[in-house]
Amino acid sequence: MCASALVSSTRRLSAVLGSALVLGPRRPIIDLSYSSHFMDYGGSAIPPTMRKLVVRALSPRFGDAVHVDTCPVPTPGDAELLVRNRFVGINASDINYSAGRYDPSRKPPFDAGFEGIGEVVGLGLSASARFAVGDAVAYFGEGAFAEYTVVPAEKTVCVPSVKPEFLTLLLSGATAYIALRRLGDLAAGQTVLVTAAAGGTGQFAVQFAKKAGCHVVGTCSSDEKAGFLKTIGCDRPINYKKEDLGSVLRREYPAGIDLVYESVGGDVFDVAINSLATHGRLIVIGFISGYQSDLGIAPVRSAALSAKLLVKSASIRGFFLPHFLADYREAMETMLRMCSSGQLVCEVDHGDLAPGGRFVGLESVFRAVDYMYAGKNIGKVVVEVAPAVNSKL
Ligand SMILES: NC(=O)c1ccc[n+]([C@@H]2O[C@H](COP(=O)([O-])OP(=O)(O)OC[C@H]3O[C@@H](n4cnc5c(N)ncnc54)[C@H](OP(=O)(O)O)[C@@H]3O)[C@@H](O)[C@H]2O)c1
Repeated sequence: MCASALVSSTRRLSAVLGSALVLGPRRPIIDLSYSSHFMDYGGSAIPPTMRKLVVRALSPRFGDAVHVDTCPVPTPGDAELLVRNRFVGINASDINYSAGRYDPSRKPPFDAGFEGIGEVVGLGLSASARFAVGDAVAYFGEGAFAEYTVVPAEKTVCVPSVKPEFLTLLLSGATAYIALRRLGDLAAGQTVLVTAAAGGTGQFAVQFAKKAGCHVVGTCSSDEKAGFLKTIGCDRPINYKKEDLGSVLRREYPAGIDLVYESVGGDVFDVAINSLATHGRLIVIGFISGYQSDLGIAPVRSAALSAKLLVKSASIRGFFLPHFLADYREAMETMLRMCSSGQLVCEVDHGDLAPGGRFVGLESVFRAVDYMYAGKNIGKVVVEVAPAVNSKL
């Protein structure tokens, strides 16, 4: 995501989510907008201060860039919600953000974290037209790595409950859903390759391609991940630590791959390009293999790229979620329905097997980022910021 894109995308998202998804019974609205310090619906006090993660120096090394700060709990403005974050999502791009790659003009300090799910504990007057204290909400935007986050009401999605499974849909699910629909040109019987298939967004690409009637191949780095991929419909998991990706594709798919959902970049991108079928498409979702480097991008062998595309009438398509916000509302509605009715696996990795154990508490974000970059996660990496509040929320 580039610089000003996040800011302008935020505005566009506001328009898209103009009327939030309301899927459950509403609680009475309590308008506390006139108060600078207030109590939530259940009567549990909101503390005067909170902790949040702040980017203090630009670096792709998350631990060097980001610090835990203590600050006053912010007060929501007229069209804003104060959300008590229960769970926040870890994204590969958290280190691109801490490296300042989203907005090179932006200087630290700035708040980190892209997405959260929690309860509304305070709100402004105009926000109270559609939200009430106690609503379960999810959002993507800035500053999610915090105990409390102020979010524009129009950027916020009502969810049936504060379950981390719903958090997986906001960025990871939406990226797969929209990218495949808008750029995939999928047809039943086609062969689809998903890289980083067992990860946050890969798991959804596998499932949506399978539901479209495709044969799905997925890359991963362990037998455990390969086993998970089978359970979500992947026809041919490839553990690239044991099998050479290029050899398997040449041997088992001589007619080539119709569509690649490509997140890794570097050598994997090169292999994927070489494996394309006639009329094949490769969607660039990301290039995680380069994110930890100073440049942020892994080198690819692009010299012969134009010739390789021409001889196969193949194409490369870039996808960046903020450019597709017109599709966001429909995507969220459909995926929330599918998730609630058990038609979509939304695998969450809480870090139970990570060194140091389950990701609980804001400081766990650092371990969670390392865990993802060690390639250990199965599904979406999620940190539990705070326990459920023992109130009516
Ligand atoms: N374009 C967009 O709008 C958009 C939106 C969301 C995400 N994305 C992109 O989607 C990709 C996946 O992001 P995510 O947040 O869902 O992460 P994730 O897939 O949950 O986790 C990253 C996975 O990438 C794999 N990987 C391969 N090479 C790696 C390397 N050199 N270093 C670290 N991991 C490596 C690992 O799986 P294996 O070990 O099994 O290979 C790892 O588990 C990223 O490229 C991200 O930028 C793009």
